[in-house]
Amino acid sequence: MNFFEVRDGELHCEDVPLARIAEAVGTPVYVYSTATLERHYNVFQTAFAHRRALVAFAVKANSNLSVLRVLARLGAGADTVSEGEIRRALAAGMPPQRIVFSGMGKTAHELAFAIEAGVSEINVESEPELDLLVKIAEGLGARPAVTIRVNPDIAAGGHDKIATGKSDNKFGVSFSEAERLYAKAYASRSLNPIGVACHIGSQITDLRPMRAAFAKMRGLVQTLRAQGLPVERLDLGGGLGAPYFDQPDPPSPAQFAAMVDEALDGLDIDLVFEPGRVIAANAGVLLTSVIHIHERPNEDGHAGKRFLVVDAAMNDLVRPAMYDAFHDLRPVKTPRAGANLSAMDVVGPVCETGDTFSRDSLLPPLAPGDLAAFMTAGAYGATMSSEYNSRPLAPEVLVRGAEFAVTRPRPTYEEMLAREPFAPWLA
Ligand code: LLP
Repeated sequence: MNFFEVRDGELHCEDVPLARIAEAVGTPVYVYSTATLERHYNVFQTAFAHRRALVAFAVKANSNLSVLRVLARLGAGADTVSEGEIRRALAAGMPPQRIVFSGMGKTAHELAFAIEAGVSEINVESEPELDLLVKIAEGLGARPAVTIRVNPDIAAGGHDKIATGKSDNKFGVSFSEAERLYAKAYASRSLNPIGVACHIGSQITDLRPMRAAFAKMRGLVQTLRAQGLPVERLDLGGGLGAPYFDQPDPPSPAQFAAMVDEALDGLDIDLVFEPGRVIAANAGVLLTSVIHIHERPNEDGHAGKRFLVVDAAMNDLVRPAMYDAFHDLRPVKTPRAGANLSAMDVVGPVCETGDTFSRDSLLPPLAPGDLAAFMTAGAYGATMSSEYNSRPLAPEVLVRGAEFAVTRPRPTYEEMLAREPFAPWLA
C-alpha cells in the first residue's frame, strides 16, 4: 500500500498534486512520500514486535538524508556498506548502536572509521578482512563487535545480478569457514564476535529459499554455542521483495516474520534485519515530462514503431537498463474514459539503445509537456543515478501531507562544471 493516488483526475503524492511539484522543481524529479515510508517501516517493525529485533534500513536503497531521518525518528537503524553511508546514517540521527556495517572489501580506513564511530556490528566477509580488522582494532585499542557473514549457498532474488547467496558469488564464507573464523575472532581478544549474518539476495518473492537459509543459520548458531562460543545476534539481511506493477504481490512482512519464527524454531537470539526495497520502493516515483513522440514509419510508409521520449533517462533510473526491470509509467492526468491505448516504447534522451524503460507499453494519448510518473522508484533509483551524458542529477523531493520540500536540489550547470578544475598546465 502507498500514498500515491489519483484524486480529481490527477495523480497526487499524499495531499500534493504531482503537477505542483513539477511546476516548482521541474522534471525529472524523484518524489517520496513520508506516510508511505512510515507505514512500511511500521508494518515491518510490528511484524517482529514479539522478538528482540533491530530493523536496520539498507541505506543503499535510498540514502537521501531526509528519508533516513524519517526512518531514524521511528527508531530505525541503518545497514551501511561504506564510510559515506555510515556518515549519512549518523547525520540523519541514527545512533551508532543501531548502525551495522556490511559489505565486501571494506578498506582499512573505513574499518577504522566504523570502529571509532562505535557502530554496533561489523559484518566480516572474509579471512583477510578479519585479519585486517584485528590489526586495526589492536592499533586503536578497541574491541569492536563483529559478526561473520556466511554464504549459505542458496540462490534467491529477482535477477542474477542481485542474487548474493550462492557459493560462486563473492559474498561471505562457507559454514565451516565461519566456525573457524568465529573461533579465531574469539581468540584474538581484540574482536568481540557477537553473531553471524547472511543475506541471500534482493527482490525475493518466494520465502522458501530464505527459510532454508535461515534454518541453516540456526544450525550454525547451535553448533557455535555447543562449542562454548557466545552467539547473541543473528543478522538475517534484507531481500524481501516489493510489489512492482507486473509481479504478483510478494509475501507480506507478517508472513515473512512467521517464516522466520518457523525457521528459527524457538532459537533465543537477538535479530537484525536489513530491509531496503520493501520499505522504500513504493514510497517514491520518478516524475518525468514527455518531450515528444517519435514515429518511425516503415519504408513502405505504413505505421511502424512509436517512441514516447521522456525527459528522464537511464542515468536517472538505471534499473530497466541494468536488470531488465519494469517500472510502470502512469500519466499524471487521468486519461479520458475510453481513450485509445497504443503501443509505444518508452525511452529517454541518452544516446544508447539501453536507454529504454519499456517496449510496446500500451499507453493513452500523451502530448509534449504532459507529466507521467515511473512508479516504485523509491529504492535503487536516485542512489544509482549518475550524470551520464552530462545530465545533472535529478533532484529529490519529500512530501508530508500537504507540504513538500526539496531535499536534494538539482545541481546547476555552473555547479557541475565547477567541480572539475582544469589541470594547471591547461588552465
Ligand atoms: N543487506 C545486504 C548485505 C545487501 O547486500 C542488500 C542489498 C540489502 C541488505 C538490502 O536488500 P533489499 O532489502 O533492498 O532487497 N540495485 C539492485 C538491488 C541490489 C541489492 C544489493 N544488496 C536493484 O535495483 O534491484
